[in-house]
Amino acid sequence: MKKQAKIVVLGSINVDISARTGVFPQDGETVSGESVRIGMGGKGTNQATSAARCGAEVVMIGRRGNDFFARIPEEHFRNESIRADYVKTDMEVGTGSALIEVLTTTGENRITVIPGANHRIEEADILAAEAEIASADVLLTQMETNADSIETFLKLGQKYGKPVVLNPAPALPIPEDWYPMIDTITPNETEACSYTGVTVGSESSAKDAADAFAKKGVKHVIITCGSKGVFCADYSGEKPFFCQVPTNRVQAVATTGAGDAFNGAYCAAVGEGMTMLQACRFACCAATISVTRPGAADSMAKREEADAVYQSYYGSDKSITVPAMGLAKRLGVFWRALEGTGASGIITEADVRRAAAKNTAE
Ligand code: RIB
Repeated sequence: MKKQAKIVVLGSINVDISARTGVFPQDGETVSGESVRIGMGGKGTNQATSAARCGAEVVMIGRRGNDFFARIPEEHFRNESIRADYVKTDMEVGTGSALIEVLTTTGENRITVIPGANHRIEEADILAAEAEIASADVLLTQMETNADSIETFLKLGQKYGKPVVLNPAPALPIPEDWYPMIDTITPNETEACSYTGVTVGSESSAKDAADAFAKKGVKHVIITCGSKGVFCADYSGEKPFFCQVPTNRVQAVATTGAGDAFNGAYCAAVGEGMTMLQACRFACCAATISVTRPGAADSMAKREEADAVYQSYYGSDKSITVPAMGLAKRLGVFWRALEGTGASGIITEADVRRAAAKNTAE
């Protein structure tokens, strides 16, 4: 039987107000939207929800306000079986919220976040959960709570030798002394560029950005590249290991929280013992499911759904580099039938060329 991962999440709790619209308004313009929904969001809550739905035991640390919005996270944590014993009510400010515009045609979004209670987490709130941290498999956090809270969390991770996954979103300054306390960093392409100065647009530039994080002291780097999948790099062994994990294409309804779906599912998967590569594949499946649904926390995939997509897409556990996949398409080679000769059996351009040459010869 699979081990159930225990994940402690320090993160934001937002109520999202999302409007779907055919067109984003220009400055000073009013446009007519199509629908509005109020639901749970906040990168922390979304990631906690993704991890819980993927089968992990999840303990949440955070703050909500003392207002009418506060009832929404309370119900959400109960419904999702997320332990909220360490979610405090702040009597001074409101619950965090986000105003989200979603473009109907592409599912792309624009978000304005009002942090409220998320920026008032005190050291004592985190220390209260010290025993949970000490018994966790993975610690997960983002950049939507106050910097002091993240630093305390990282230090506790270090004290108990627990792997901390930092999703550095939104991109805000990270003190240099945080990096050695981060086991895995998971920026998207834009965030990777803002932290390393490397513009990520290809596998080799993703590697350069990952190398830059590694130089700062991070052991694992995962750069999420939207519908192109993820680039992952593992510097924990004698030799670094790099891999591009492609993802299946879907028609996006709303991309809000796709990165969060990935992060939560990834932690649930590595926490239960999957390798980095398997966990990245699994998390890509969870993320692609989430973009086919509206909302943020509500759109997260359930375990059985992610398992089913994993089975159909990576069932043979085959993996191919992005350039090799492009080449396979151009040369009309069915890549799933190939045996990979790259690291860990990954199919490379050389494998594709060999197969194409063989087809021609036949
Ligand atoms: O990552 C998506 C989330 O960002 C939304 O749910 C919103 O609350 C903002 O925090």
